[in-house]
Amino acid sequence: MSNQRKFNITVLPGDGIGPEVIDQGIKVLDAVADRFGFSLEYCVGDIGAIAIDRHGTPLPDETIDACTKADAVFLGAIGHPKYDHDPSAKIRPEQGLLKLRKSLGLYANIRPVTVYPELADLSPLKKHILDGTDFVIYRELTSGIYFGKSGRNPEENGAYDTCYYNEAEIRRITKLAFDAARQRSGKVTLVDKANVLESSRLWREIVRDMAASAEGIELEYLFVDNAAMQMIVAPNQFDVVLTSNMFGDILSDEGSVISGSLGMLPSASIGEHSSLFEPVHGSYPQAAGKDIANPLATILSGAMLLESLEQFEAAKAIRDAVALICRFGIGTQDLKMNITCSCSQLGDLITSAIQEGETFGLRRGTIEESVSTII
Ligand code: IPM
Ligand code: MN
Repeated sequence: MSNQRKFNITVLPGDGIGPEVIDQGIKVLDAVADRFGFSLEYCVGDIGAIAIDRHGTPLPDETIDACTKADAVFLGAIGHPKYDHDPSAKIRPEQGLLKLRKSLGLYANIRPVTVYPELADLSPLKKHILDGTDFVIYRELTSGIYFGKSGRNPEENGAYDTCYYNEAEIRRITKLAFDAARQRSGKVTLVDKANVLESSRLWREIVRDMAASAEGIELEYLFVDNAAMQMIVAPNQFDVVLTSNMFGDILSDEGSVISGSLGMLPSASIGEHSSLFEPVHGSYPQAAGKDIANPLATILSGAMLLESLEQFEAAKAIRDAVALICRFGIGTQDLKMNITCSCSQLGDLITSAIQEGETFGLRRGTIEESVSTII
């Protein structure tokens, strides 16, 4: 089992609950590394509001450098209310993340929406509608309206943002989405606004042509307004959702809540240099430092990170441990399980489940008891 490989991970804890959830993620990564015989070395960098405080910029050059050299980047969260409430702030934490995506060429953002049966009650959707939901969003991440020409027109106090895509940008993410679809049912839904936008019509032409010569791909099209509705009325019709930057941003938040908790959803951003892994949720400043945040999205992002390093068994061990703890009915307060535990306790439990393997499952009674007496 021992492959004795060593990987360099650049860790960017960021703001708010970022550092707490990242601590749990690292605990769990170390546990699987130990069990499956590889080693991980960490280098920590600043990004977001904390980087503005320390360096005057949301993404210092040293951070970009450390990320470019790493085998993978593990990010907590960024954002601080003091910037959210000041639209005139010239320097903002989010700029750090956008610049990092661009610098690393992270053109594909992959956000799986998985439903855990134990959490189905938390979903705003009825159980029979949620049943069988399991899809993944492929969101284009380094182009479109996020990075197009923007500006102000002082003459009439106007402002504009442009959505521009070229063929190469559309092709490379489509290829990844098709590859993913082949490992699943083969169905790809292209979400756009081709009845109105020229850039969407270009997406359709290119994706349609690629699908015509791709084996095993069944391509469907949906306008984004309809897709937003379909995700609520029949989410189980989706398998791979392929879309542009802005539509993907909006739809992935929608996708995340139907699973029950935003605190469960991981993401991967893949591109030209090192890949980046982060929870879908934000920095949740109200919970920062209280040890109550849900670390599972980060822990599951760690599983995606290991897959990118081809440590498939280790990734599976993490997912199995998370599913087991959910079955035990233990979780952070947002999960409203039978037993509520803290962020660090949940990290410890997942770690023990990984270290102990089979025997952990047999200790259910004592584990439940120990958690409920501490709380
Ligand atoms: C996300 C976030 C970012 C985005 C923000 C923080 C810039 O909402 O990762 O989905 O809009 O891409
Ligand atoms: Mn978003």
